[in-house]
Amino acid sequence: MICLIRYNWLMKIFHNISELITLAGGPQRGRQLGRLGAIAQGAIVCEDGKFLAVGRADELLERYPQAERVDLRGKAVVPGFVDPHTHLIWAGDRANEFEMRLQGKSYMEIMAAGGGILATLTATRQASLEQLVEESRARVRTAFALGTTTMEAKTGYGLDIETELRHLEAILELARTEPIDLVPTYMGAHAIPPECKGNTAGYTRFLCEEALPITKQWWLEHASGQALPFVDVFCEAGVFEIEETREILSAAKKLGFPLKLHADEFENLGGASLAAELGAVSADHLVKTSPEDIRRMAASETVAVSLPGTPFGLAQSQYTPAKEILAADGYLALATDLNPGTTWNESMQFIQALACRYLKLTPAQALAAATINSAKAISCEHRAGSIEPGKQADFLALTTPDYRNLSYRYGSNQVALVIKKGELYPN
Ligand code: NIG
Ligand code: FE
Repeated sequence: MICLIRYNWLMKIFHNISELITLAGGPQRGRQLGRLGAIAQGAIVCEDGKFLAVGRADELLERYPQAERVDLRGKAVVPGFVDPHTHLIWAGDRANEFEMRLQGKSYMEIMAAGGGILATLTATRQASLEQLVEESRARVRTAFALGTTTMEAKTGYGLDIETELRHLEAILELARTEPIDLVPTYMGAHAIPPECKGNTAGYTRFLCEEALPITKQWWLEHASGQALPFVDVFCEAGVFEIEETREILSAAKKLGFPLKLHADEFENLGGASLAAELGAVSADHLVKTSPEDIRRMAASETVAVSLPGTPFGLAQSQYTPAKEILAADGYLALATDLNPGTTWNESMQFIQALACRYLKLTPAQALAAATINSAKAISCEHRAGSIEPGKQADFLALTTPDYRNLSYRYGSNQVALVIKKGELYPN
């Protein structure tokens, strides 16, 4: 008789974990935020890029003797970070504007004078696909080494059809060649391009009638069956007002795009309520959000995404009213907002450190907001954001045995090893 023993060389067991923070049980609303699902002396079994079993090391080592063993030497393990808001794709930098701001000019003043997003637009329109991919690849690699295993990436520095599609091409190319998962967002409504200066209505019409349908068609032809990108709008005084934002998002919704929204970064226009009304997956920034907007958003499925790197990067003192969002029972998530203007920062570790200090979150709340809740903010909570059987095996072994160091310390990388779809990427 032939005895078949199933040796699966792809099966691995990660053990000797001081504390295994699973974040199991789905996205966490309101005051539930911070449920860690911690297992002391835990182990993780992975197969074919997914979690097969999660539990106590003594039990799992006995149950899976055939699995290849990986000793994590008494360190803490957390899910891979999910960064649900980045402007990943751009060319050049704006170090000169940073200096102008230090001398007293505001972000919106620089933008109104033709700098800001429009300065990056000029550099990005001139860049070839290869240049865009390589400049953005450096940021992807930095983020990945810092623990981000899934990242949203927006277009928005072209604002004409050709350059916006080049952003999407760059995102597809990076997703194909880097281990990170990238989730695309079309943001033709990031600013009014120079050729439409003073004609916001005309540009809004162009977006609704031409750019969105063409983008959808292009995506269906080039993205091999991947879900449509999100559509996002910079809803802000002097950029897209609330009625223009409604027009663009409604047109996008009609075409089947899922929605996002930049709301209340500098002024309160009611963007968070609009996001809830239109069923947007998230409303992001939320610095100037009113109590009424918070109440409406918290009563919906829309995730409030806070970007504390942005006020920090602009040296402002006001941050997202996170406690109010949690008291109203809303979903709160964290993201970097990585971009060349307000906050060039790839680190979700640094974002957690800021969130504890300025949003007054606990380290457990910050971690949940940077993993399972941020996964919900880009509709990928079913495959990412927690360590649970059946999900993608994306997790991090830290340099220390206590996960709270992620928020307590800052300025250095506390991720020793990134595991993406079961593969090891040591730092
Ligand atoms: O989210 N506010 C709009 N967009 C970015 C900034 C983009 C830029 O300045 O290049 C943000 O802060
Ligand atoms: Fe942004």
